[in-house]
Amino acid sequence: MLRLESVSYRYAGAERASLRDIDLRLEYGEVLGVVGASEAGKTTLCLVASGLAPRAIRGTLTGRLLIDGIDVAGQRMHELTALVGVCFQDPATQLSGVNATVFEEVAFGPMNLGLPVEEVVERTTDSLAALRIGHLSERDPARLSGGQMQLVAIGGLLAMRPAHLVLDEPTAQLDPAGTSLVADALARLASGGSSILIAEQKTDLLARICDRVVALDHGGLRLSGQSRAVLADPSLQALGVEEPSIVRLRRLASEAGEDPARLEEEAP
Ligand SMILES: Nc1ncnc2c1ncn2[C@@H]1O[C@H](COP(=O)(O)OP(=O)(O)O)[C@@H](O)[C@H]1O
Ligand SMILES: [Mg+2]
Repeated sequence: MLRLESVSYRYAGAERASLRDIDLRLEYGEVLGVVGASEAGKTTLCLVASGLAPRAIRGTLTGRLLIDGIDVAGQRMHELTALVGVCFQDPATQLSGVNATVFEEVAFGPMNLGLPVEEVVERTTDSLAALRIGHLSERDPARLSGGQMQLVAIGGLLAMRPAHLVLDEPTAQLDPAGTSLVADALARLASGGSSILIAEQKTDLLARICDRVVALDHGGLRLSGQSRAVLADPSLQALGVEEPSIVRLRRLASEAGEDPARLEEEAP
């Protein structure tokens, strides 16, 4: 369980807080989506929820971050990284830079957990297969395309099988096929009991995998609820968030006088 209690965050030197009074609760096996316009605070929320801010990014945090019921304020970065996996937008910065092949890169995290070699190999092979990047195993991670790097970074995270995972626009560089593979892999991880917080512009992806969704606006929580309800909320567009295509389709159908219930069978 990952929990934010009345969390506000102001970057060092900033005049205003970038997150204001956020209360969030993420249960095991739950996928929580975060939407909001550019600058709404999605990245900041990911930084705070993963403990990177204020540890690695200077600023002032008020309120509490609790992981498995423990206030993590006193914990060091390396203790936190064992609890929460993190994936940010820029894949190049996610890779270790020390591994000669994709296979070793994906195996790197589980190796460092001190797992037996057979298990490391099994997890690595599973991850590569789930993201359909087995054919890249022998390649140099530094010489991949942006999309391939992103899949490798996500593969490395999945292989850790983290209890908590925080992802900030993890599919930014991926095409629809890659995005879909990531969605399936995250859904599978959550069904194994992991809790996942994911900030995304791609609301189709969120509609597919999220249990709940929250919308941020100027650092505050504006909407929060079941994924289906929030993603169909009429105020979403005013918050700078694109409606998922299923919601758009229903709306257009209803505007055209069609019975939107006929589309229900197609709904994700
Ligand atoms: N390192 C920083 N220092 C000061 N302000 C920042 C920093 N990073 C982001 N901000 C500000 O915090 C607010 C939220 O930004 P961010 O979390 O990146 O939003 P989003 O990810 O939704 O686009 C913005 O007003 C942004 O300008
Ligand atoms: Mg961002």
